[in-house]
Amino acid sequence: MALLEIKGLTVKFGGLTAVDDLDMTVTEGTIHSIIGPNGAGKTTVFNAITGIVKPHSGSILLNGIDVTRLKPYRIIEFGVSRTFQSVVVFKYLTVLENLYVGYHSVLKLNLLEEFLPKKRKIATWEMYCKALQIADFLGLKSRLLSYAGSIPYMSQKLVEIGRALMSDPKIILLDEPAAGLTDTETEQMKEIIRHIKEKMKITVLLVEHDMRVVMSLSDMVSVMDFGKKISEGRPEVVRNDKEVIKAYLGENEYA
Ligand SMILES: Nc1ncnc2c1ncn2[C@@H]1O[C@H](COP(=O)(O)OP(=O)(O)OP(=O)(O)O)[C@@H](O)[C@H]1O
Ligand SMILES: [Mg+2]
Repeated sequence: MALLEIKGLTVKFGGLTAVDDLDMTVTEGTIHSIIGPNGAGKTTVFNAITGIVKPHSGSILLNGIDVTRLKPYRIIEFGVSRTFQSVVVFKYLTVLENLYVGYHSVLKLNLLEEFLPKKRKIATWEMYCKALQIADFLGLKSRLLSYAGSIPYMSQKLVEIGRALMSDPKIILLDEPAAGLTDTETEQMKEIIRHIKEKMKITVLLVEHDMRVVMSLSDMVSVMDFGKKISEGRPEVVRNDKEVIKAYLGENEYA
């Protein structure tokens, strides 16, 4: 079933067309990767899905509902969460508090309930339990009370993923999760992404330059170049596509 449908999406910045008439369908339960050279428009697609940039034309549907013109905080309520290409953590909040930030869209106390101590207590307890569970999965339990700005880069990336998972998303958008990681950390990151799909049953839309990650994890790969989709298919098909090799992978990489 199509969880996310992008139809004729065009995003322009002044005279530059960053995304050009893009069609893409992400099937529920899959890891779907978008690859392409620097400046191809990958992050802009994420920004359009999450409502950060407004498309010039086209539409974005989640479970068949058009969310194209909705504000970012409304789109989160449709089960979309994301991480950013440059790590975005609240440096002067603890890891636990960073995770709490991701829960705010789940916390739906109305004004009256805000003043009912019991309701508030239950909600806070649920938030704490969820944060513990996610920290445990990501190996962050021993760092829960550390300031997020003081922990290693890999851990900061995991905090960002944790924050995105706190909102119980149906789909998580990961923008270069393996960038800047060592080989060992990259392997860890792969396991985490696999777990998100297989155990947590969350659909993953992945932007990644590391082809080892893309080729081993993806069920489907879409390739962008200059804002356009130039190829799409299973990893083994895309890696042998002449257009892709020419545009992105380099003549020798997978020859
Ligand atoms: N807010 C913006 N204002 C103006 N131009 C932008 C903006 N965001 C992106 N662009 C331009 O749009 C094009 C696509 O950028 P985008 O960041 O989506 O590429 P990308 O595929 O994510 O590249 P990379 O692999 O380097 O992250 C680039 O030419 C970029 O300079
Ligand atoms: Mg990018």
